[in-house]
Amino acid sequence: MLIGITGTPGTGKTSVAEALRRRGIDVLDLKTTVGPFVIEHDSEMGADVVDVEAWAKEHQFLEGYAEGAIAHFLPCEKIIILRCRPDVLEQRLAPRGYSAEKIRENAEAEALDVILIETADAFSTEQIYEIDTTSIDSETAADMILAFAEDKVPASFGTIDWSEYVMSL
Ligand SMILES: Nc1ncnc2c1ncn2[C@@H]1O[C@H](COP(=O)(O)OP(=O)(O)O)[C@@H](O)[C@H]1O
Ligand SMILES: [Mg+2]
Repeated sequence: MLIGITGTPGTGKTSVAEALRRRGIDVLDLKTTVGPFVIEHDSEMGADVVDVEAWAKEHQFLEGYAEGAIAHFLPCEKIIILRCRPDVLEQRLAPRGYSAEKIRENAEAEALDVILIETADAFSTEQIYEIDTTSIDSETAADMILAFAEDKVPASFGTIDWSEYVMSL
């Protein structure tokens, strides 16, 4: 059984993976697996472009927990989507040395539910668990992920909506 943890950069995937590892759970960092599938480097965005289809084909038999913004392209049994209010996401990405454009692009992708839409394309709603990390810490997010993985809480899909926040700007 594969449990994926996806989300826009800055939503807290790596942090929650660390929290899970502290509890003795193995979590694969999917970033470490994409190397052979990088097609080009987008120097404007400071990002590698990955052939996700070829990568997913090679990684379809993973087991356990896997974390990364492309986790939802794998045939996970359950998929967790971490979310974060776009303005807080920008604050979290600021110390990373990303360009203003890259920070803005990630905040926009989060505001527009890009990863949620990609995930909903490939999974049934019963497989999806969205967690808003805006005002909870990574330990609490780890508790929620384990509860969902162990069938102690039901799926949660479509409950997080940034449109009201975006329209208030
Ligand atoms: N639940 C959280 N609450 C507050 N800050 C967080 C939380 N999760 C992550 N962060 C902070 O946000 C930044 C990005 O987190 P990270 O785990 O690297 O995200 P991702 O792996 O999704 O890109 C880091 O500075 C981290 O400390
Ligand atoms: Mg990360």
